[in-house]
Amino acid sequence: MQTKISASILAADPTQLGDEIKKVEQAGVDLIHIDVMDGHFVPNLTMGPFIVERIKEITKVPLDIHLMIENPDKYVESFTQKTTKDDILTFHIEATDDPLNVINLIKDRGIKAGVAINPDTHEQTVEKLLESVDILLVMTVYPGFSGQAFKKYVCDKLKKLREMAPENLDIEVDGGIKPETIPDAATAGANVFAAATSIFAKDDYKEAIEELRRKAQENSYLFMKS
Ligand code: DX5
Ligand code: ZN
Repeated sequence: MQTKISASILAADPTQLGDEIKKVEQAGVDLIHIDVMDGHFVPNLTMGPFIVERIKEITKVPLDIHLMIENPDKYVESFTQKTTKDDILTFHIEATDDPLNVINLIKDRGIKAGVAINPDTHEQTVEKLLESVDILLVMTVYPGFSGQAFKKYVCDKLKKLREMAPENLDIEVDGGIKPETIPDAATAGANVFAAATSIFAKDDYKEAIEELRRKAQENSYLFMKS
């Protein structure tokens, strides 16, 4: 399974967003992670469907849209106006009573469906969905802000989820991912890594992405098994 680095534009310079996206694209990033916040599910507000559409127009890198919003079912259509089959739309398990319906709505739009789980939410809440999603997003901070510290205790849950999941399921971690923390997340079973600060706060994005990728691969749970 592939190791992927997803650049979270939450820490990019918002006045230069197009250039920032071009730069991480040229630096070889695998996904562009877009954090959508509604001021209800999380105490912060960020980007809406209009910005997602414009980003899609300027990059070939698949989008990794992370919805931190209430009532995700109501917004699937507006966030998928321009998306194509390799893009991902992820919603939070804590934000809906009918996750299977949201997954089906997303898949009906012809893109990949992801479910996200907060640090303190039990793994059982997503267990039955693992066969139905294309990606599981395990939060390693409480969602809402970039620049927070990685919560190492989440690695125990991550390990359990990797054991429960179908063999090829992509498992992403998000929050506090940097060269010092990525080995723990990779060892516990993640293969997709969202990172904001540890890419956009660096001068050289290529060097930052390559270092994350190398540290993840060296510590991959697959590598440890063989
Ligand atoms: C947090 C967001 C993350 C965040 C990560 O709610 O979902 O994607 O941007 O930021 P860093 O990598 O700085 O922890
Ligand atoms: Zn995110």
